[in-house]
Amino acid sequence: MQILLTGGAGYIGSHTIIELDKAGHSVVVVDNLSNSCEESVRRVSEIIGKPIPFIKADVRDAAAMDSIFKSYKIGAVIHFAGLKAVGESVAKPLEYYENNLNATFVLVNAMRNNGVKNIIFSSSATVYGNPAVIPITESCPKGECTNPYGKTKSMLEEVLSDVQKADPEWNVVLLRYFNPIGAHQSGRIGENPNGIPNNLMPYITQVAVGRRPELGVFGNDYDTPDGTGVRDYIHVCDLAAGHVSALQAIERKCGLAIYNLGTGHGYSVLDVVKAFEKVNGVKVPYSIKPRRAGDIATCYCNPAKAKAELGWEAKFGIEEMCRDSWNWQKNNPKGYEG
Ligand code: NAD
Ligand code: UFG
Repeated sequence: MQILLTGGAGYIGSHTIIELDKAGHSVVVVDNLSNSCEESVRRVSEIIGKPIPFIKADVRDAAAMDSIFKSYKIGAVIHFAGLKAVGESVAKPLEYYENNLNATFVLVNAMRNNGVKNIIFSSSATVYGNPAVIPITESCPKGECTNPYGKTKSMLEEVLSDVQKADPEWNVVLLRYFNPIGAHQSGRIGENPNGIPNNLMPYITQVAVGRRPELGVFGNDYDTPDGTGVRDYIHVCDLAAGHVSALQAIERKCGLAIYNLGTGHGYSVLDVVKAFEKVNGVKVPYSIKPRRAGDIATCYCNPAKAKAELGWEAKFGIEEMCRDSWNWQKNNPKGYEG
């Protein structure tokens, strides 16, 4: 099947192209490069040994999207495109609502006008808010999101569910990602944040490579085994493979389906720091800082539904995640810039 990846030049999208190619799918990528660069797509093209059709366009551009659906025989869309920085979304709510919601409205309208009714949506564990149950299953009620970014994910889940309800020919898979880290084993592609990283692993790798003096650990007084926040880190290649499995569900006409994509294991901030130091033989100096606003103590999932229904489960452990994150960073100390 030919798959359209919106936001396919980004971190998760670029890794997903490789898994789709392995499974025999072809891709088309549309991205406005607001948080990525075309170099990632070029490198993926080298890795898979094939050209990748790339359209630099904004998903909010209705004419551009219509033209893509008219030019290619798209069987399904994986919708990665969106702004994703939690802190920035608090400072710039309008930009986040405008981009994430409008891009999805324009996309789904173009899909409907062109008879493409299969979509996989990048949702997030953030929709559970402060989770009512740990480990989190898909039947756990959605919670109060503390930031506009999370609210866009929660709202878009509702929008896509309603679209499917109104027209059962649609197949909509909502994938709730936990915390993707790691990079492709080649070390050629990886996470490339702009400016100061918000997320833990890119911060650790930038400290390890000498770009930043130390990691700030946001709070050591949570109700967790060592007091630091616990998350479900998942290797980005495992996450990417989850999209291939979700496409199989679409081929089986799944209607509306929701899956957690995580490993089911929770690691604290200090667990990750220690694993990173041990696997890679590098020091990561850190100091304890105050809690970060909006953070929760513990977030990890029960991934049994994805295993039972999609036959998907994560293969890589925390050591491989740390090894591959470092392999990418040390080979590309300035990301795609050098
Ligand atoms: P990313 O920023 O690397 O990729 C998103 C891509 O979308 C970027 O290349 C950006 O240029 C593009 N984009 C944004 N708005 C666009 C628009 N209007 N038109 C065209 N392109 C646009 O992020 P990622 O980590 O690869 O995340 C992919 C998706 O997964 C996002 O929707 C994100 O919210 C979601 N997600 C990510 C995480 C995570 O921790 N990385 C966790 C849960 C969910
Ligand atoms: N942390 C630090 N120092 C840092 C960065 C993070 O101690 O410099 C801690 C956080 O306090 C938290 C853990 O590391 O305990 C993980 O933080 P991240 O920022 O890496 O990830 P979050 O769990 O806060 O959020 C991420 C994405 C969200 C997504 C969510 C899904 O940023 O977009 O995972 O679970 F919704």
